[in-house]
Amino acid sequence: MVNNAEGEILRALRASGDYVSGEALSAELGVSRVCIWKHIRNLVRHGYVIKPSSRGYHLVSAPDLLLPCEFPGWEQKICHFWEVDSTMRVAKGLAKRGAEEGTIVVAESQSRGRGRLGREWSSPVGGIYCTVILRPKVSPAYAPRISLMASVAVAQTIRRLFGLPAELKWPNDVLIGGKKVCGILAEMEAEMDEVDFVNLGIGINVNCSISQQRATSLRDELGTEVSRKEVLSAVLAEIQRQQGMLTREDLLGEWKELSATLDREVAVVSLGEEIAGKAIDVDTSGALIVKCRDGSLRRVLAGDCLHL
Ligand code: BTN
Repeated sequence: MVNNAEGEILRALRASGDYVSGEALSAELGVSRVCIWKHIRNLVRHGYVIKPSSRGYHLVSAPDLLLPCEFPGWEQKICHFWEVDSTMRVAKGLAKRGAEEGTIVVAESQSRGRGRLGREWSSPVGGIYCTVILRPKVSPAYAPRISLMASVAVAQTIRRLFGLPAELKWPNDVLIGGKKVCGILAEMEAEMDEVDFVNLGIGINVNCSISQQRATSLRDELGTEVSRKEVLSAVLAEIQRQQGMLTREDLLGEWKELSATLDREVAVVSLGEEIAGKAIDVDTSGALIVKCRDGSLRRVLAGDCLHL
């Protein structure tokens, strides 16, 4: 594991952009020079290229890992795993034990990644797999909007960072060219009128290829690898921005603008029933309004949506 002291060393090396002496680092961290050398050795083991010389240490390059020290300002909130069964399971335990709002469980890979409707989420190295613990002060009725918000955050980030035409499929899949690049899973615990926590699981196919016909990755779309650190920092910042909008109408406005579902013929499987027709709107709680072929309107709260 890369610890706090190592995070401090990286911060000092990055701030200088040049060599920093072992003496200066040991004074800054209040530990011996031997200790500094051991921390440097650990960083190198994790893929950091650090050049030693008589002038000290120089950071040449950093690996694209989602270690807490790579997210300045968030370090204390990030719980990093090289591999875990599912970040949802870990986050649930943490949330039940009182983990604070904004705690993030992140893994480089998952052995039993979970998708919506009991499906498996393929989670090889190269993707982003995280669960954010939120404790919104809203009524449980607003909970479905939290995953809509997260899908808007991911789509906006992909558009802004890479100029790719990311769109949304109800309820909260992010698509590029009709193929899924990100999935979102929300788990909530609540009392009648108060949310205890909503765990927001986000899986993004970044530098990995998924062998499913209707899935893609950012690397496949761009033809080059991208920085997962950059993507995750931007998504987290966007979620923070969107959270303030949970009870506001504009949130749905943003979702509707990015939607690939509205005005389309769809078939939604909800509670074992198939509802086919034209998707005409989402209401304030995030439910999909479908105009069926017989002219009736159906309000669908959850389900699997197929674009026809
Ligand atoms: C979907 O089916 O579209 C939702 C996929 C959610 C996957 C993410 S990856 C991080 C978190 N941990 C999990 O096991 N699942 C979610």
